[in-house]
Amino acid sequence: MENFIAYNPVTLHFGRNILSTLGSTLKEYGNRVLLVYGKGSVKKSGLYDRIMQDLKSQGFEVCEYGGIRSNPVIEDVDAAAALGRDRRVDVILAVGGGSVIDSSKIIAVAIPTSDPAWDFFTGKVKPVSAIPLVTVLTLAATGTEMNPFAVVSNHALGQKSAFGSPLTFPKHSFLDPEFTLTVPRDYTAYGIADLIAHCFEAWFGVGETTLTDRFVLSIVKEAMEYGPKLLEDLDNYKYREKIMFAATMALNGMTMYGRSTGDWGVHSAGHCLSLLYDVPHGASLTIIYPAWMRRFENQVSGRISQLGSGLFDEALTAGQSIDRIEAFFKSLGCPTRLSDMNIQGELRRPIYDSMVHNKVNGANVKMKEGDYSGLIELFL
Ligand code: NZQ
Ligand code: ZN
Repeated sequence: MENFIAYNPVTLHFGRNILSTLGSTLKEYGNRVLLVYGKGSVKKSGLYDRIMQDLKSQGFEVCEYGGIRSNPVIEDVDAAAALGRDRRVDVILAVGGGSVIDSSKIIAVAIPTSDPAWDFFTGKVKPVSAIPLVTVLTLAATGTEMNPFAVVSNHALGQKSAFGSPLTFPKHSFLDPEFTLTVPRDYTAYGIADLIAHCFEAWFGVGETTLTDRFVLSIVKEAMEYGPKLLEDLDNYKYREKIMFAATMALNGMTMYGRSTGDWGVHSAGHCLSLLYDVPHGASLTIIYPAWMRRFENQVSGRISQLGSGLFDEALTAGQSIDRIEAFFKSLGCPTRLSDMNIQGELRRPIYDSMVHNKVNGANVKMKEGDYSGLIELFL
Protein backbone atom coordinates (compact mmCIF):
# COMPACT_ATOMS: atom_id res chain seq x y z
CA MET A 1 0.00 0.00 0.00
CA GLU A 2 1.00 3.60 -0.52
CA ASN A 3 0.74 6.12 2.31
CA PHE A 4 -2.45 8.13 2.06
CA ILE A 5 -4.46 10.89 3.69
CA ALA A 6 -8.22 10.48 3.83
CA TYR A 7 -9.92 13.87 3.89
CA ASN A 8 -13.44 14.65 2.77
CA PRO A 9 -15.27 17.57 4.38
CA VAL A 10 -18.44 17.43 2.22
CA THR A 11 -21.70 17.00 4.11
CA LEU A 12 -23.78 14.74 1.90
CA HIS A 13 -27.57 14.89 2.18
CA PHE A 14 -28.98 11.87 0.35
CA GLY A 15 -32.53 10.67 -0.25
CA ARG A 16 -36.14 11.59 -0.79
CA ASN A 17 -37.30 15.13 0.00
CA ILE A 18 -33.83 16.00 1.14
CA LEU A 19 -34.20 19.62 -0.01
CA SER A 20 -36.38 20.50 2.97
CA THR A 21 -33.25 21.67 4.81
CA LEU A 22 -31.70 23.57 1.88
CA GLY A 23 -32.78 26.99 3.16
CA SER A 24 -31.52 26.46 6.71
CA THR A 25 -28.24 25.15 5.31
CA LEU A 26 -27.73 28.20 3.09
CA LYS A 27 -28.61 30.50 5.98
CA GLU A 28 -25.46 29.33 7.78
CA TYR A 29 -23.47 31.29 5.20
CA GLY A 30 -25.56 34.41 4.70
CA ASN A 31 -28.42 35.87 2.75
CA ARG A 32 -27.07 36.68 -0.72
CA VAL A 33 -27.08 33.65 -3.00
CA LEU A 34 -25.57 33.17 -6.46
CA LEU A 35 -27.64 30.46 -8.16
CA VAL A 36 -25.76 28.70 -11.00
CA TYR A 37 -27.42 26.32 -13.46
CA GLY A 38 -27.15 24.91 -16.98
CA LYS A 39 -28.93 25.23 -20.28
CA GLY A 40 -32.46 24.72 -19.05
CA SER A 41 -33.11 21.20 -17.74
CA VAL A 42 -33.77 22.62 -14.25
CA LYS A 43 -36.42 24.97 -15.62
CA LYS A 44 -38.05 22.17 -17.62
CA SER A 45 -38.15 19.81 -14.64
CA GLY A 46 -39.64 22.42 -12.30
CA LEU A 47 -36.67 22.27 -9.91
CA TYR A 48 -35.70 25.88 -10.64
CA ASP A 49 -39.18 27.19 -9.71
CA ARG A 50 -39.29 25.06 -6.61
CA ILE A 51 -35.90 26.27 -5.36
CA MET A 52 -36.58 29.91 -6.26
CA GLN A 53 -39.91 29.87 -4.42
CA ASP A 54 -38.31 28.26 -1.42
CA LEU A 55 -35.46 30.78 -1.29
CA LYS A 56 -37.67 33.81 -1.87
CA SER A 57 -40.13 32.72 0.83
CA GLN A 58 -37.21 32.52 3.26
CA GLY A 59 -36.04 36.02 2.39
CA PHE A 60 -32.88 35.21 0.43
CA GLU A 61 -31.57 37.70 -2.11
CA VAL A 62 -30.85 35.64 -5.23
CA CYS A 63 -28.87 36.53 -8.33
CA GLU A 64 -28.46 33.91 -11.01
CA TYR A 65 -26.10 32.74 -13.72
CA GLY A 66 -27.77 30.28 -16.09
CA GLY A 67 -26.51 28.77 -19.32
CA ILE A 68 -23.48 26.77 -18.19
CA ARG A 69 -22.89 24.38 -21.07
CA SER A 70 -22.02 20.73 -20.95
CA ASN A 71 -18.20 20.44 -21.16
CA PRO A 72 -18.12 23.87 -19.46
CA VAL A 73 -15.99 26.77 -20.67
CA ILE A 74 -13.82 29.23 -18.80
CA GLU A 75 -15.64 32.29 -20.19
CA ASP A 76 -18.77 31.35 -18.23
CA VAL A 77 -16.72 30.88 -15.08
CA ASP A 78 -15.19 34.36 -15.41
CA ALA A 79 -18.55 35.98 -16.18
CA ALA A 80 -20.30 34.27 -13.25
CA ALA A 81 -17.44 35.16 -10.90
CA ALA A 82 -17.70 38.82 -11.97
CA LEU A 83 -21.42 38.75 -11.22
CA GLY A 84 -20.87 37.13 -7.83
CA ARG A 85 -18.16 39.65 -6.96
CA ASP A 86 -20.33 42.57 -8.03
CA ARG A 87 -23.29 41.34 -5.94
CA ARG A 88 -21.06 40.45 -2.98
CA VAL A 89 -22.67 37.04 -2.66
CA ASP A 90 -22.32 35.06 0.56
CA VAL A 91 -22.87 31.59 -0.87
CA ILE A 92 -23.08 29.81 -4.25
CA LEU A 93 -25.88 27.35 -4.96
CA ALA A 94 -25.07 25.10 -7.94
CA VAL A 95 -28.04 23.16 -9.33
CA GLY A 96 -27.19 20.73 -12.11
CA GLY A 97 -24.76 18.10 -13.30
CA GLY A 98 -20.98 17.97 -13.28
CA SER A 99 -20.58 20.91 -15.63
CA VAL A 100 -22.54 23.29 -13.40
CA ILE A 101 -20.93 22.09 -10.18
CA ASP A 102 -17.38 22.09 -11.60
CA SER A 103 -17.85 25.64 -12.90
CA SER A 104 -19.20 26.70 -9.52
CA LYS A 105 -16.14 25.35 -7.70
CA ILE A 106 -13.92 27.65 -9.74
CA ILE A 107 -16.37 30.55 -9.46
CA ALA A 108 -16.13 30.06 -5.68
CA VAL A 109 -12.36 30.57 -5.60
CA ALA A 110 -12.34 33.20 -8.37
CA ILE A 111 -14.78 35.60 -6.68
CA PRO A 112 -12.33 36.61 -3.92
CA THR A 113 -9.56 37.39 -6.45
CA SER A 114 -9.50 39.55 -9.54
CA ASP A 115 -7.36 37.10 -11.51
CA PRO A 116 -8.58 35.32 -14.64
CA ALA A 117 -10.01 31.97 -13.52
CA TRP A 118 -7.80 30.04 -15.96
CA ASP A 119 -4.80 31.06 -13.82
CA PHE A 120 -5.86 28.44 -11.26
CA PHE A 121 -5.55 25.75 -13.93
CA THR A 122 -2.08 26.82 -15.00
CA GLY A 123 -0.89 27.16 -11.40
CA LYS A 124 -0.15 30.86 -11.89
CA VAL A 125 -2.52 31.72 -9.05
CA LYS A 126 -3.32 29.65 -5.96
CA PRO A 127 -6.71 30.00 -4.28
CA VAL A 128 -6.55 31.71 -0.91
CA SER A 129 -10.21 31.62 0.06
CA ALA A 130 -13.53 30.49 -1.35
CA ILE A 131 -17.17 31.51 -1.25
CA PRO A 132 -19.00 28.54 0.34
CA LEU A 133 -20.51 26.22 -2.26
CA VAL A 134 -23.72 24.22 -1.80
CA THR A 135 -24.78 21.87 -4.60
CA VAL A 136 -27.98 20.16 -5.72
CA LEU A 137 -27.02 17.34 -8.06
CA THR A 138 -29.31 16.47 -10.98
CA LEU A 139 -27.19 13.91 -12.87
CA ALA A 140 -25.40 10.86 -11.46
CA ALA A 141 -22.00 10.56 -13.11
CA THR A 142 -18.94 12.55 -12.15
CA GLY A 143 -18.76 12.36 -8.35
CA THR A 144 -18.05 16.10 -8.31
CA GLU A 145 -20.64 16.52 -5.55
CA MET A 146 -18.25 14.91 -3.07
CA ASN A 147 -14.80 15.74 -4.39
CA PRO A 148 -12.69 18.86 -4.91
CA PHE A 149 -12.12 18.50 -8.67
CA ALA A 150 -13.29 20.80 -11.45
CA VAL A 151 -12.76 20.23 -15.17
CA VAL A 152 -13.12 23.20 -17.52
CA SER A 153 -12.31 23.85 -21.19
CA ASN A 154 -10.39 26.75 -22.64
CA HIS A 155 -11.03 26.61 -26.38
CA ALA A 156 -8.80 29.60 -27.10
CA LEU A 157 -5.87 27.56 -25.75
CA GLY A 158 -7.16 24.15 -26.92
CA GLN A 159 -7.13 22.71 -23.40
CA LYS A 160 -9.53 20.88 -21.10
CA SER A 161 -7.93 20.77 -17.68
CA ALA A 162 -8.64 19.76 -14.11
CA PHE A 163 -8.06 21.70 -10.91
CA GLY A 164 -8.67 20.79 -7.30
CA SER A 165 -7.70 22.13 -3.89
CA PRO A 166 -8.99 21.72 -0.33
CA LEU A 167 -10.90 24.97 -0.98
CA THR A 168 -12.92 23.54 -3.88
CA PHE A 169 -14.85 20.89 -1.97
CA PRO A 170 -18.55 21.77 -1.74
CA LYS A 171 -19.67 22.46 1.83
CA HIS A 172 -22.93 20.55 1.36
CA SER A 173 -24.33 18.46 -1.48
CA PHE A 174 -28.00 17.54 -1.73
CA LEU A 175 -28.76 14.35 -3.67
CA ASP A 176 -32.38 13.38 -4.23
CA PRO A 177 -32.53 10.59 -6.82
CA GLU A 178 -35.88 11.99 -7.91
CA PHE A 179 -34.05 14.93 -9.52
CA THR A 180 -32.33 12.50 -11.88
CA LEU A 181 -35.59 10.95 -13.15
CA THR A 182 -35.65 13.39 -16.08
CA VAL A 183 -32.11 12.60 -17.31
CA PRO A 184 -32.52 11.19 -20.83
CA ARG A 185 -31.41 7.68 -21.72
CA ASP A 186 -28.15 8.67 -23.40
CA TYR A 187 -26.84 10.80 -20.53
CA THR A 188 -28.04 8.20 -18.02
CA ALA A 189 -25.87 5.64 -19.83
CA TYR A 190 -22.91 8.04 -20.07
CA GLY A 191 -23.17 8.62 -16.32
CA ILE A 192 -23.09 4.88 -15.61
CA ALA A 193 -20.06 4.57 -17.89
CA ASP A 194 -18.34 7.53 -16.24
CA LEU A 195 -18.66 6.09 -12.75
CA ILE A 196 -17.31 2.76 -13.99
CA ALA A 197 -14.41 4.55 -15.70
CA HIS A 198 -13.55 6.34 -12.44
CA CYS A 199 -13.27 2.95 -10.76
CA PHE A 200 -11.08 1.69 -13.62
CA GLU A 201 -8.77 4.71 -13.36
CA ALA A 202 -8.34 3.92 -9.66
CA TRP A 203 -7.79 0.23 -10.43
CA PHE A 204 -4.97 1.00 -12.86
CA GLY A 205 -3.40 3.60 -10.54
CA VAL A 206 -0.34 3.43 -8.35
CA GLY A 207 -0.42 1.30 -5.20
CA GLU A 208 -1.38 -2.22 -4.31
CA THR A 209 -4.33 -2.31 -1.95
CA THR A 210 -6.58 -5.35 -1.82
CA LEU A 211 -9.34 -3.84 0.32
CA THR A 212 -9.63 -0.81 -1.95
CA ASP A 213 -9.66 -3.14 -4.97
CA ARG A 214 -12.69 -4.79 -3.42
CA PHE A 215 -14.38 -1.38 -3.02
CA VAL A 216 -13.73 -0.78 -6.72
CA LEU A 217 -15.13 -4.14 -7.83
CA SER A 218 -18.20 -3.68 -5.63
CA ILE A 219 -19.00 -0.26 -7.07
CA VAL A 220 -18.55 -1.44 -10.67
CA LYS A 221 -20.61 -4.58 -10.03
CA GLU A 222 -23.40 -2.47 -8.56
CA ALA A 223 -23.36 -0.30 -11.70
CA MET A 224 -23.23 -3.35 -13.98
CA GLU A 225 -26.19 -4.93 -12.22
CA TYR A 226 -28.46 -1.91 -11.87
CA GLY A 227 -27.30 0.25 -14.79
CA PRO A 228 -28.94 -1.95 -17.44
CA LYS A 229 -32.08 -2.27 -15.31
CA LEU A 230 -32.31 1.49 -15.00
CA LEU A 231 -31.87 1.95 -18.75
CA GLU A 232 -34.89 -0.35 -19.25
CA ASP A 233 -36.92 1.59 -16.68
CA LEU A 234 -35.79 5.22 -16.55
CA ASP A 235 -38.59 6.27 -14.20
CA ASN A 236 -37.59 3.79 -11.52
CA TYR A 237 -36.62 5.68 -8.37
CA LYS A 238 -34.93 2.67 -6.74
CA TYR A 239 -32.58 2.16 -9.68
CA ARG A 240 -31.86 5.90 -9.90
CA GLU A 241 -31.02 5.80 -6.19
CA LYS A 242 -28.56 2.93 -6.61
CA ILE A 243 -26.76 4.57 -9.52
CA MET A 244 -26.61 7.95 -7.80
CA PHE A 245 -25.06 6.42 -4.69
CA ALA A 246 -22.58 4.40 -6.76
CA ALA A 247 -21.51 7.44 -8.79
CA THR A 248 -20.79 9.45 -5.65
CA MET A 249 -18.76 6.63 -4.08
CA ALA A 250 -16.78 6.09 -7.30
CA LEU A 251 -14.92 9.40 -7.01
CA ASN A 252 -15.07 10.64 -3.44
CA GLY A 253 -11.65 9.38 -2.38
CA MET A 254 -12.45 5.86 -1.15
CA THR A 255 -11.26 4.14 -4.34
CA MET A 256 -7.89 5.85 -3.87
CA TYR A 257 -7.14 4.78 -0.28
CA GLY A 258 -3.77 3.06 -0.32
CA ARG A 259 -2.89 4.40 -3.75
CA SER A 260 -0.84 7.49 -4.44
CA THR A 261 -2.98 8.25 -7.52
CA GLY A 262 -5.27 6.77 -10.12
CA ASP A 263 -3.99 6.41 -13.68
CA TRP A 264 -6.24 8.97 -15.47
CA GLY A 265 -4.67 8.41 -18.91
CA VAL A 266 -8.04 7.54 -20.47
CA HIS A 267 -9.65 10.63 -18.97
CA SER A 268 -6.93 12.89 -20.28
CA ALA A 269 -7.31 11.39 -23.78
CA GLY A 270 -11.11 11.61 -23.51
CA HIS A 271 -10.90 15.32 -22.76
CA CYS A 272 -9.30 15.80 -26.20
CA LEU A 273 -12.38 14.28 -27.88
CA SER A 274 -14.68 16.52 -25.84
CA LEU A 275 -12.60 19.57 -26.74
CA LEU A 276 -12.46 18.81 -30.44
CA TYR A 277 -15.91 17.33 -31.11
CA ASP A 278 -17.92 18.15 -27.96
CA VAL A 279 -18.22 14.43 -27.23
CA PRO A 280 -20.12 13.97 -23.92
CA HIS A 281 -17.63 13.06 -21.21
CA GLY A 282 -18.92 9.53 -20.44
CA ALA A 283 -19.06 8.71 -24.15
CA SER A 284 -15.45 9.78 -24.62
CA LEU A 285 -14.48 7.21 -21.99
CA THR A 286 -16.35 4.25 -23.50
CA ILE A 287 -14.70 5.12 -26.83
CA ILE A 288 -11.20 5.18 -25.38
CA TYR A 289 -11.17 2.62 -22.54
CA PRO A 290 -11.30 -0.58 -24.65
CA ALA A 291 -8.72 0.87 -27.07
CA TRP A 292 -6.45 1.94 -24.21
CA MET A 293 -6.59 -1.53 -22.61
CA ARG A 294 -5.76 -3.15 -25.95
CA ARG A 295 -2.93 -0.71 -26.64
CA PHE A 296 -1.30 -1.10 -23.22
CA GLU A 297 -2.29 -4.71 -22.55
CA ASN A 298 1.38 -5.68 -22.56
CA GLN A 299 2.05 -3.37 -19.59
CA VAL A 300 -0.95 -4.26 -17.39
CA SER A 301 -2.14 -7.62 -18.64
CA GLY A 302 -2.37 -9.11 -15.12
CA ARG A 303 -4.43 -6.19 -13.84
CA ILE A 304 -6.82 -6.31 -16.80
CA SER A 305 -7.36 -10.03 -16.37
CA GLN A 306 -7.86 -9.62 -12.60
CA LEU A 307 -10.40 -6.85 -13.26
CA GLY A 308 -12.36 -8.87 -15.84
CA SER A 309 -12.30 -12.02 -13.73
CA GLY A 310 -13.46 -10.08 -10.66
CA LEU A 311 -16.28 -8.36 -12.52
CA PHE A 312 -17.62 -11.34 -14.45
CA ASP A 313 -16.92 -13.97 -11.76
CA GLU A 314 -14.97 -16.32 -14.03
CA ALA A 315 -11.33 -16.73 -15.00
CA LEU A 316 -10.73 -14.47 -18.00
CA THR A 317 -7.57 -13.54 -19.89
CA ALA A 318 -6.79 -9.87 -20.45
CA GLY A 319 -8.08 -10.11 -24.03
CA GLN A 320 -11.32 -11.77 -22.97
CA SER A 321 -11.78 -9.17 -20.22
CA ILE A 322 -11.41 -6.29 -22.68
CA ASP A 323 -13.94 -7.89 -25.06
CA ARG A 324 -16.44 -8.38 -22.23
CA ILE A 325 -16.03 -4.82 -20.93
CA GLU A 326 -16.42 -3.40 -24.42
CA ALA A 327 -19.53 -5.52 -24.99
CA PHE A 328 -20.96 -4.21 -21.72
CA PHE A 329 -20.42 -0.58 -22.76
CA LYS A 330 -22.13 -1.37 -26.08
CA SER A 331 -25.05 -2.99 -24.26
CA LEU A 332 -25.60 0.32 -22.46
CA GLY A 333 -25.90 1.97 -25.88
CA CYS A 334 -22.60 3.80 -25.44
CA PRO A 335 -20.22 4.33 -28.36
CA THR A 336 -17.00 2.29 -28.39
CA ARG A 337 -15.62 3.90 -31.54
CA LEU A 338 -15.58 7.57 -32.52
CA SER A 339 -17.39 6.56 -35.71
CA ASP A 340 -20.34 5.44 -33.53
CA MET A 341 -20.89 9.16 -32.79
CA ASN A 342 -21.04 9.93 -36.55
CA ILE A 343 -17.94 12.06 -36.30
CA GLN A 344 -16.30 12.03 -39.69
CA GLY A 345 -13.54 13.65 -41.71
CA GLU A 346 -9.80 13.76 -41.11
CA LEU A 347 -9.62 12.92 -37.41
CA ARG A 348 -6.19 11.41 -36.87
CA ARG A 349 -4.16 14.61 -37.11
CA PRO A 350 -6.32 16.87 -34.91
CA ILE A 351 -6.66 14.20 -32.22
CA TYR A 352 -2.93 13.49 -32.28
CA ASP A 353 -2.10 17.21 -32.11
CA SER A 354 -4.53 17.74 -29.24
CA MET A 355 -3.03 14.80 -27.34
CA VAL A 356 0.47 16.23 -27.80
CA HIS A 357 -0.69 19.74 -26.86
CA ASN A 358 -2.49 18.49 -23.73
CA LYS A 359 0.41 16.17 -22.83
CA VAL A 360 -1.95 13.19 -22.55
CA ASN A 361 -0.51 10.64 -20.16
CA GLY A 362 -1.29 8.25 -17.35
CA ALA A 363 0.25 8.41 -13.91
CA ASN A 364 0.95 4.68 -13.93
CA VAL A 365 0.67 3.46 -17.52
CA LYS A 366 2.96 5.94 -19.21
CA MET A 367 2.17 7.01 -22.77
CA LYS A 368 4.77 8.38 -25.09
CA GLU A 369 3.91 10.52 -28.09
CA GLY A 370 4.86 7.51 -30.19
CA ASP A 371 1.97 5.57 -28.59
CA TYR A 372 -0.72 8.08 -29.55
CA SER A 373 -1.17 7.06 -33.20
CA GLY A 374 -1.57 3.39 -32.32
CA LEU A 375 -4.13 4.26 -29.66
CA ILE A 376 -6.09 6.54 -32.00
CA GLU A 377 -6.28 3.80 -34.67
CA LEU A 378 -7.99 1.53 -32.13
CA PHE A 379 -10.89 3.88 -31.40
CA LEU A 380 -11.65 5.64 -34.70
O1 NZQ B 1 -27.43 22.05 -19.14
P1 NZQ B 1 -28.70 21.40 -18.72
O2 NZQ B 1 -29.90 21.95 -19.39
O3 NZQ B 1 -28.85 21.31 -17.23
O4 NZQ B 1 -28.66 19.86 -19.30
C1 NZQ B 1 -27.70 18.90 -18.91
C2 NZQ B 1 -26.70 18.61 -20.03
O5 NZQ B 1 -27.29 18.78 -21.28
C3 NZQ B 1 -28.40 17.58 -18.78
N1 NZQ B 1 -29.00 17.34 -17.47
C4 NZQ B 1 -28.42 17.44 -16.25
N2 NZQ B 1 -29.30 17.08 -15.30
C5 NZQ B 1 -30.46 16.77 -15.92
C6 NZQ B 1 -30.27 16.93 -17.30
N3 NZQ B 1 -31.25 16.69 -18.20
C7 NZQ B 1 -32.45 16.30 -17.73
N4 NZQ B 1 -32.69 16.10 -16.41
C8 NZQ B 1 -31.72 16.33 -15.48
N5 NZQ B 1 -31.99 16.08 -14.19
O6 NZQ B 1 -27.39 16.61 -19.00
C9 NZQ B 1 -26.42 17.14 -19.89
C10 NZQ B 1 -25.04 16.84 -19.35
O7 NZQ B 1 -24.81 17.57 -18.17
P2 NZQ B 1 -23.32 17.72 -17.61
O8 NZQ B 1 -23.38 18.45 -16.34
O9 NZQ B 1 -22.43 18.23 -18.68
O10 NZQ B 1 -22.93 16.16 -17.38
P3 NZQ B 1 -21.99 15.47 -16.34
O11 NZQ B 1 -22.60 15.47 -15.00
O12 NZQ B 1 -21.64 14.17 -16.94
O13 NZQ B 1 -20.70 16.41 -16.26
C11 NZQ B 1 -19.72 16.36 -17.26
C12 NZQ B 1 -18.58 17.27 -16.93
O14 NZQ B 1 -17.94 16.89 -15.71
C13 NZQ B 1 -16.53 16.69 -15.94
C14 NZQ B 1 -16.48 16.26 -17.37
O15 NZQ B 1 -15.20 16.38 -17.93
C15 NZQ B 1 -17.49 17.18 -18.01
O16 NZQ B 1 -16.94 18.44 -18.30
N6 NZQ B 1 -15.98 15.75 -14.94
C16 NZQ B 1 -15.85 16.17 -13.68
C17 NZQ B 1 -15.27 15.40 -12.71
C18 NZQ B 1 -15.14 15.85 -11.33
N7 NZQ B 1 -15.44 17.11 -11.05
O17 NZQ B 1 -14.74 15.10 -10.45
C19 NZQ B 1 -14.72 14.07 -12.99
C20 NZQ B 1 -15.18 13.52 -14.28
O18 NZQ B 1 -14.24 12.55 -14.69
C21 NZQ B 1 -15.35 14.52 -15.37
O19 NZQ B 1 -14.11 14.84 -15.99
ZN1 ZN C 1 -15.04 10.95 -15.63
